[in-house]
Amino acid sequence: MKTLTITRPDDWHIHVRNGAILKTVLPHTARQFARAIIMPNLKPPVCTVDQALLYRDEILEAVPQGADFTPLMTLYLTSSTTEAEIKKAAESQHIHAFKLYPAGATTHSDSGVSDIKAAYPLFAAMEKHQIPLLIHGEVTDEQCDIFDREKAFIGKYLTDIVEQFPGLRVVLEHVTTAEAVQFVEAANQNIAATITPQHLLYNRNALLVGGIRPHYYCLPIIKRERHRLALVAAATSGNPKFFLGTDSAPHLTNLKESSCGCAGCYSAHAALEMYAEVFEAADSLDKLEGFASFYGADFYRLPRNSSTITLQKTSWNVPSSYGENGILITPLKANESVNWKTQ
Ligand code: DOR
Ligand code: ZN
Repeated sequence: MKTLTITRPDDWHIHVRNGAILKTVLPHTARQFARAIIMPNLKPPVCTVDQALLYRDEILEAVPQGADFTPLMTLYLTSSTTEAEIKKAAESQHIHAFKLYPAGATTHSDSGVSDIKAAYPLFAAMEKHQIPLLIHGEVTDEQCDIFDREKAFIGKYLTDIVEQFPGLRVVLEHVTTAEAVQFVEAANQNIAATITPQHLLYNRNALLVGGIRPHYYCLPIIKRERHRLALVAAATSGNPKFFLGTDSAPHLTNLKESSCGCAGCYSAHAALEMYAEVFEAADSLDKLEGFASFYGADFYRLPRNSSTITLQKTSWNVPSSYGENGILITPLKANESVNWKTQ
C-alpha cells in the first residue's frame, strides 16, 4: 500500500468553539495536528490574555488522554484593545497573534474593527512588540459584491497596512482569490497566507449547482475555478509564504441547513487527508510536508515538530455527521469517500 510519512503538521487557523462542540471537535484536530492557532471569535470574544488563558485551559481539558496537542491562543482585536494588552500578549508564551475581523465580515465579528485606519496605533504596537496580526481580509461595504470582497480589501486596506508597517508579520487568512495569491507573493517576507481544504478542493459550482449546498458555504465564499487553480498552484509551489490553515468552523447542522445558514465548513475530521488528495491530484505530494509542517512554524518562529505522521492511500467513508446528545455537525465530504487515511 502506498504510504506517506511526514513531520507532524500544525493547523494555523481553526475554530474549536467551547462547551459541548469543543468536546466533539477537538479530538479530530488533536489526532492529526501537534498545534493549532485557535481563533478567538467566541461569543463573547476572547479579547484579553486572561480570557485566552481560561479558554486555553478549557481546550486542554478536551484533549483526549494520550494525545499530544498544544493550542496556540490568539486575541480578538477590538477598538478597545490597548497597547498594554498587546505587550502582555506578546510576552505570554501562550498567546501567538491578534485576529482582525472587520466588523460584520463573518461569524461573531460584530465586536470587530469598524474603522481599520483607527487601529493603526495598535498595528504599530504589534510591530513593536513582535506579535503577528492575522487578518480576515474582506471589506464589509454593502455595495461590494460578496465575490469581490477579498480583492477589494487588498486594494482598500491591506496594501497600505503592509506599506505602513513593514516589520509587522501579517497572515492574510484563508486566501480565496488569484489576486490574494499575487499580493502575498509580491509582498515582503513578513506577509504570509493560510489556505483551507475547501478552497483548494471546490469552486463555487459545488455550492450552487443542482441545489444550494449549505455545507460548502463559508467566508470568504468559495470562488470560481480560476481562483481555485491559483490557490492549488500557490499551496503546491513550495513557497513558504503559503501554509496550512483549515479554518475548520463547526456549526450545528440545523443552523447551516436554514433559511439563513451560518458560514463555516467543518473539516477537522479529515483535514490532512483532504490536503493530501489535493497535493496528489496536482502531482505534488512531495510539497505537502513543507506546506503542512514547516512553513507555518517558521513564520510564527516556533520550532518545527519532531514526531511524524503516516498517511495511507486507502479509501474510507466520511460519516453523515459527528456528535451526540444534541450536537450534530455535518462534515465536509459527508457520506463521500476520502482517499487517504492517517494511521
Ligand atoms: O466561514 C467562516 N466561518 N468564516 C469565518 O471567517 C468564520 C468562521 C466561523 O467562525 O464560523
Ligand atoms: Zn476562520
